Amino acid sequence: MMSDYLPNKDAYNVAVVGATGAVGQTMLEILAERNFPIADLVLVASSRSAGSRVEFKGREYVVQDLETFDPAGLDIALFSAGGGTSLKHAPRFAEAGCYVVDNSSAWRMHDDVCLVVPEVNPHALSMARANRIIANPNCSTIQMVVALKPLHDAVPIKRVVVSTYQAVSGAGGKAIEELAEQTRSLLLGNEAKVNMLPARIAFNVIPQIDVFMEDGYTKEERKMMDETRKIMEADIAVTATTVRVPVFYGHSESVNVTFTGPMTADTARSLLADAEGVCVVDDPATADYPLASEAGGTDPVWVGRIREDKSCPDSLHLWVVADNVRKGAALNAVQIAELLVSEH
Ligand code: A2P
Repeated sequence: MMSDYLPNKDAYNVAVVGATGAVGQTMLEILAERNFPIADLVLVASSRSAGSRVEFKGREYVVQDLETFDPAGLDIALFSAGGGTSLKHAPRFAEAGCYVVDNSSAWRMHDDVCLVVPEVNPHALSMARANRIIANPNCSTIQMVVALKPLHDAVPIKRVVVSTYQAVSGAGGKAIEELAEQTRSLLLGNEAKVNMLPARIAFNVIPQIDVFMEDGYTKEERKMMDETRKIMEADIAVTATTVRVPVFYGHSESVNVTFTGPMTADTARSLLADAEGVCVVDDPATADYPLASEAGGTDPVWVGRIREDKSCPDSLHLWVVADNVRKGAALNAVQIAELLVSEH
């Protein structure tokens, strides 16, 4: 294969770091589904799961311990093992000559690290030639910018007000188990144990994702605000309220957008219908709109409930749904890896 970033080869040496986690497992599924050109595959995680076996395309791989793993000879490493792990180990992989696509928030806002959504800013990837670290954005941010970019290209966006309804899978495999366990316990009349999330999530809605900052926003909200501006390369005012809901897979977002000029719902609908990576489901007559339950397991960003905001000129409401583990994390990372191995 011809690549602008890596030596030309038929297939590349790939590592998945965090291979036993919710995102890591989905990365493996997507690498297989999309037939990514892999020569050697290495699966890496913590010492807790080192030595265990994970299947890929019918073959078993023994999980390696990240602490002692030598990245020499790797071309691409997909990291999804937490921010601290990325801060410590991504530079070591990059120095060994490997491109790191990092799903954590550790590197996203570094000035010399690119933050890439292939449908939105593929050109930003060229920055990675210098340091070989590429940041994969926050899950809620990815699906929002995929929906906003085609509209912004037609009429620049001035302001975005977003409220999210985020699935527990965004907090990892243990949070998925926590929702299941709490639901089971409560239905049996037992107490629900809270471990991973800041409050009980079963039969509840939690207006906190990640930790609070001094200004009263949470870190998740700050990520959406800062990352949107970096990816869109535009001075857009963004404010966010991020909320955890008792859903396993699929983040939903209510997005209110104010443009610098007129933008009708019909124009937005047709721009989005033609946009890469977007599917419009929007028919009030038949009560058709995107649902997390239907977006789970799919690749597109689904947009519906497109309507003009009666309270404010040049403004629209959108309802944006995507599988947070796929497009919000694993799929976006694999798409970045595909850009790395393809010729521009
Ligand atoms: P492990 O299974 O060994 O704990 P999730 O987001 O679903 O919780 O998954 C987190 C992933 O990151 C898992 O694969 C986990 O591996 C991995 N991980 C967590 N901490 C470390 C670490 N310090 N070093 C390497 N891998 C880690």
